[in-house]
Amino acid sequence: MIVAIDGPAGAGKSTVARAVARALGIGYLDTGAMYRALTLTALRNGVAADDGPALIGLARDNAIMLTDGPGGMRVAVSGDDVTVAIREADVTEAVSTVAAHPGGRDEMVARQREIMRDGDWVCDGRDIGSVVFPGAEVKVFLTASVDERARRRHAEIVGRGEQVDVREVRDEVERRDHADSSRAASPLVVADGARVVDTTGMSVDEVVDRIAGLAREAAA
Ligand code: DC
Repeated sequence: MIVAIDGPAGAGKSTVARAVARALGIGYLDTGAMYRALTLTALRNGVAADDGPALIGLARDNAIMLTDGPGGMRVAVSGDDVTVAIREADVTEAVSTVAAHPGGRDEMVARQREIMRDGDWVCDGRDIGSVVFPGAEVKVFLTASVDERARRRHAEIVGRGEQVDVREVRDEVERRDHADSSRAASPLVVADGARVVDTTGMSVDEVVDRIAGLAREAAA
């Protein structure tokens, strides 16, 4: 079974998706982390975020590995642990540009389908229910108001010990919403058959219970 969770930046997809996977006892794949890993690789290799052909080369030459363990998910590029580096501001700034390139996306989508070829998975991203797995048994579009998403993102950044103004985070969330929704290649859309879950004012546990319930119904 595939549980596809899509939605805009800051909707809480990663937190919720990981917890749903735990509740159901199945695997979890964070596809945003893959686009972030490709972006970091571009920055480290002096490749411009909009240089499509070079991005395809980087994606082919560098194995992006995700492993989910007791301490959380670790991300590595060609054996180098980049779990912390992919969350830094320079990557967040450039990732929408990298993710807009169709050739780079094709490489990532092929890798995602390969990883999830066998077994049951919860997978989060922007195009999982629309492009990667249109036949997913459960499709959820997770969203929340811009203010709520900015507050959550802000709390996450401050929790990592960094200082940032909440208005700056709100601007960044809006900028990425626009970039992710308006790009030509696999824009963020509510996939056919997806259930829209607005998490404004809902606790993480409530959201997890709702989605795990949908998955159990689908499996019954
Ligand atoms: O969920 P996130 O913030 O870690 O995602 C990082 C970026 O990657 C986001 O701006 C959009 C892009 N992305 C995408 O285009 N397709 C996906 N399946 C996942 C993420």
